[in-house]
Amino acid sequence: MNALLAPRPLWPLRLARRVVSPALFDFWSTRLNPLWTLEQPLARLVSRGKASRDAVTLVLRPNRHWQGMHAGQHLNLGVEIDGRRLVRSYSPTPLEDGNLAITVKAITGGLVSRHLANDARIGDVMALDAAFGDMVLPASTADLLLLAAGSGITPMRALLRSLAARGMPANVDLMYWARRRDELCFVDELDAMAAAHPRLRVHYLITRDDASPAPRVDVAPLEAIASLAERRVLACGPGGFVQAARSRLEGHVAHFAAEAFSIPARTDGEEGSVAVRLARSGRTLQLPRGQSLLESLEAQGVRPSHGCRMGICNTCACGRQSGTTRQLLTGALSSEPSSQVRLCISAPSTDLILDL
Ligand SMILES: Cc1cc2nc3c(=O)[nH]c(=O)nc-3n(C[C@H](O)[C@H](O)[C@H](O)COP(=O)(O)OP(=O)(O)OC[C@H]3O[C@@H](n4cnc5c(N)ncnc54)[C@H](O)[C@@H]3O)c2cc1C
Ligand code: FES
Repeated sequence: MNALLAPRPLWPLRLARRVVSPALFDFWSTRLNPLWTLEQPLARLVSRGKASRDAVTLVLRPNRHWQGMHAGQHLNLGVEIDGRRLVRSYSPTPLEDGNLAITVKAITGGLVSRHLANDARIGDVMALDAAFGDMVLPASTADLLLLAAGSGITPMRALLRSLAARGMPANVDLMYWARRRDELCFVDELDAMAAAHPRLRVHYLITRDDASPAPRVDVAPLEAIASLAERRVLACGPGGFVQAARSRLEGHVAHFAAEAFSIPARTDGEEGSVAVRLARSGRTLQLPRGQSLLESLEAQGVRPSHGCRMGICNTCACGRQSGTTRQLLTGALSSEPSSQVRLCISAPSTDLILDL
């Protein structure tokens, strides 16, 4: 059994919980061993390898506070960069030995993805939160159509490994879009899985560097692969891809579920800036209209609590005393006074007062 996951005597921990706060305990205990905490799940980076031209796979060994996960779920990962703790979501593959493999695509200008892809070293310790999310396999053995674009392949890989371990109980087609062939991850593994399980078919769709670019996500090209009305669809990738998949496929398929890794590009035409007053600190900032409040506040040095940055975990919820915000996933405007907004997926449309 993994030594980090082995059961330990509980009475010293119960005693410690009564005597000191978890934060104080962790402060001293992690000086003895960086993975000894009272409650916080942590993980140590034990290996790293190239997954594609611009992605790496990091294998993390969690400490005994990690509660496990279902294939397809994601977690918030906390890393320290230049003395600042930053949190982003990743969709790991749970491995047979209890470790977690996360595959990270380096995003141009991205703080955490570039750190993980280029600078994270064996032995580094990272914070994990409990896994959550609904991109899990359905209880039924309905036929599946898995749609992945870019790093959206990560939960699909975990789902496919789980299905393969169960003998591939349904017909499954994986459609995997990438801009260039050398950006594809897990090709050998996916091909081997398809060779071992005739009910799985893997389709690679390269949009930029082939002579004839692959079709974008839509009903007609997918109908040529599988009878859509009989398929449960799971889609994952950048916000624009997920938005297109949802708008074109919902209503044509047996069931549609999706997870976006980023917020779709703005289409509402909001420009200029507005005054955002932070009621608790008394500061007033000029922030761009139509852009995520979380990102704009961070750019001005304000550090609101956050987790997923995609409107899923509610960690960034904050009171809006007055003004109008736009929800970036749906485009809906909201101006009800004294209500909660999720800063990561809300943009200021007018001047605002926030409980920050
Ligand atoms: C539920 C969930 C699961 C995720 N799982 C994975 C995973 O397994 N592997 C993985 O590589 N990423 C995954 N992501 C994306 C990841 O959380 C980060 O957003 C990504 O690594 C970029 O972080 P960053 O700090 O480098 O970029 P930031 O510094 O936060 O952002 C820099 C710029 O890049 C944009 N951006 C952020 N993420 C993306 C993206 N994915 N595609 C395009 N532009 C983006 C931002 O809007 C911003 O403009 C997941 C996201 C969610 C919500
Ligand atoms: S950070 Fe998760 S909802 Fe905003």
